[in-house]
Amino acid sequence: MRLSLLTTTVLFFALSSAAFGQTIELSIDASKTGPKISRHIFGQFAEHLGTGVYEGLWVGPDSKIPNTRGLRNDVVNALRELKVPNVRWPGGCFADEYHWRNGIGSKRGVTLNPTWGGVIEPNTFGTHEFMDFVDQIGSEAFLSVNLGSGTVHEAADWIEYMTSEQQTTLAKERAVNGHPAPYKVPFLGIGNESWDCGGNMSPDFYLSQLKMYARFVRNFNPAQRGDDRMMRIAVGPGGTEPRFTEWTETVMKGWKGHTWSWDMEGLSLHNYTVYNWEKKHSSVDFGEKEYAEILKKTLEINGLLDTHIGIMDKYDPEKKIALVVDEWGAWYAPMPGSNPGFLVQQNSQRDAVLAALNLNIFARRADRIRVANIAQMINVLQAMILTDKEKMVLTPTYHVFKMYIPFQDSTSIPVAFNAGTYAFSNITLPRVDAIAAKGIDGKLWLAITNLDANRAAEIDLKSVGANVRSAIGQTLTSPKVDSINTFDSPKTVEPKPISARAQGGKLMLNVPARSVTVVAVE
Ligand code: AHR
Repeated sequence: MRLSLLTTTVLFFALSSAAFGQTIELSIDASKTGPKISRHIFGQFAEHLGTGVYEGLWVGPDSKIPNTRGLRNDVVNALRELKVPNVRWPGGCFADEYHWRNGIGSKRGVTLNPTWGGVIEPNTFGTHEFMDFVDQIGSEAFLSVNLGSGTVHEAADWIEYMTSEQQTTLAKERAVNGHPAPYKVPFLGIGNESWDCGGNMSPDFYLSQLKMYARFVRNFNPAQRGDDRMMRIAVGPGGTEPRFTEWTETVMKGWKGHTWSWDMEGLSLHNYTVYNWEKKHSSVDFGEKEYAEILKKTLEINGLLDTHIGIMDKYDPEKKIALVVDEWGAWYAPMPGSNPGFLVQQNSQRDAVLAALNLNIFARRADRIRVANIAQMINVLQAMILTDKEKMVLTPTYHVFKMYIPFQDSTSIPVAFNAGTYAFSNITLPRVDAIAAKGIDGKLWLAITNLDANRAAEIDLKSVGANVRSAIGQTLTSPKVDSINTFDSPKTVEPKPISARAQGGKLMLNVPARSVTVVAVE
C-alpha cells in the first residue's frame, strides 16, 4: 500500500515541453493521502562557526544592538516568524570539541575553536543561552554531544544537568544557574561525522561507542516519555563513496541486532551541494551555466537518499528509525576578503530554487525522512539571515522556508505532472517540480518550483474528482539567476502575491521563470 502510494505521489513523465507546448499538466488527488510531512524537516543548524552564533544571534546583554538577554531582537523576531521547529547546536565539527561545562555558570572558560578559524571561543553562549534562544524563537532543542574528544560520562552529565527534575547535584546546579525546571531535549545527535572530523573512526568502532552513549546518556525529563521520548540520532553517511554504504550497513545491522540495553531512533545523513570541492562555485556574480550546474548537482541527493533508505529498509522495514538529514545545503567559495574558516557566502535566487527542490525531495520521502536541518541558520553557508553589526537582511532561502510553513505537519497528497525539460548546454533538468499536501489548517497546498531560468510555465491545474476554482498564494522570483538581497537593497528577492481563478472549467496558473510558488488550492 505504502509503495503504491509513493509511486503515485510523484509521476515524473519525462516528456519534453514541446509535446505539451508550454503547458504543464498537473493534477492533485486529494482523495488519497500519504505520510505526514513532519515539521521537523524544516529544522535549522547553528554551529559555533564564524559569526553564526557570536554576532549573528548572540551580541550579549550590554550590546547597543537591541537584544533580550543578549539575543538580538531583529534576528529572534525574523526566526519566530519562520516557525523554526528545531535547532541543531553546538555543531557540526565543533560539537566534538565542545565541553559543556565551559559554557555554564558565572565563570566561563575561554577556549579555542581550532576547526573554524582557530579563533577564541568565549563560551558566553552556552547551554542556558541556547535554551533561551530556542524558547524565544518558539523552537525545540537538537543537541549534538561530544563523542570525539569527550566521554560518555561528560555527555551523560550534560543531559542529566538539563533534564533531571529530581534534585540531583547537577539539577541543583542548573537551578543555581537560573533554570530550576528541567529542559526538554527532544533530539540528541550522538557524535558528528565520526568518519572524518569527529574522530576518523571505523564503522565498527563507532558502533561500539554508539551503544554506550545510547545506553548511558539518559533524558530524565518526566515530560519526555512514550511518543515524546528523546530521539537518539546515530552518525550516518556523508557521501557517495563505498565507505558510506559500509557505514550505514554497519550501524543499521548493529541496531537490528540490538539488545534491551540500548536503542536509537534516528540515523543522520549529511549532503552538501558542491560543484567541485577543490574549486567551489562563487555564491555571487554567476551566470546560467553555474545556475544549471548547481541545480543538477543538488538533484543528485535523490540517488544518495535512495541508496541509504534502501539499506535502512532492509534492516528496518517498519521504518522505526528516522533518516535525519541534519546538514544539507549549498556550499560555495568563501566571499573574497572573508576568513575562509568562517564559511561566509551570499544567498541568491539559485539557493531559493535549490532549497525548494531539497524540501520537496524530503517531503516525498516523508515516511523515512522525519528531521532535516539546513546548514546553517545565520551568516554561514546557505543561511536564512545575514548580519553585519546592527544590520540584518533576509535571504531568498529564508523566504522559501517561510512560504513552506503550511507544509509543516501536513499530510502529503499525490500530485502527478509532466515535468517537461529545461536544458542549458549539455545539462538537462526537469522544468518543474511540485508537491501537494493537506495542511493542518485544512487547506490544500501546492508548491511548484520552476527551474527554467528563462521561461515562465503555464500550469494547467486539475484536481481528481473535483473542480478547482482558485489558487492563491505567493511566488518568489528575481530579475536574474544570481539576484541577491543586500543590506542596501534588501527586497530584490521577495515573495509577491500570485493567484488564478478557473475560467470555463480550467485553471491556468502562470509561474515565473526561476521561481518558487506556494498556493492554496480550492
Ligand atoms: O556545516 C559545516 C561543517 O560541515 C560541519 O561542522 C560539519 O559537520 C560538516 O562537515
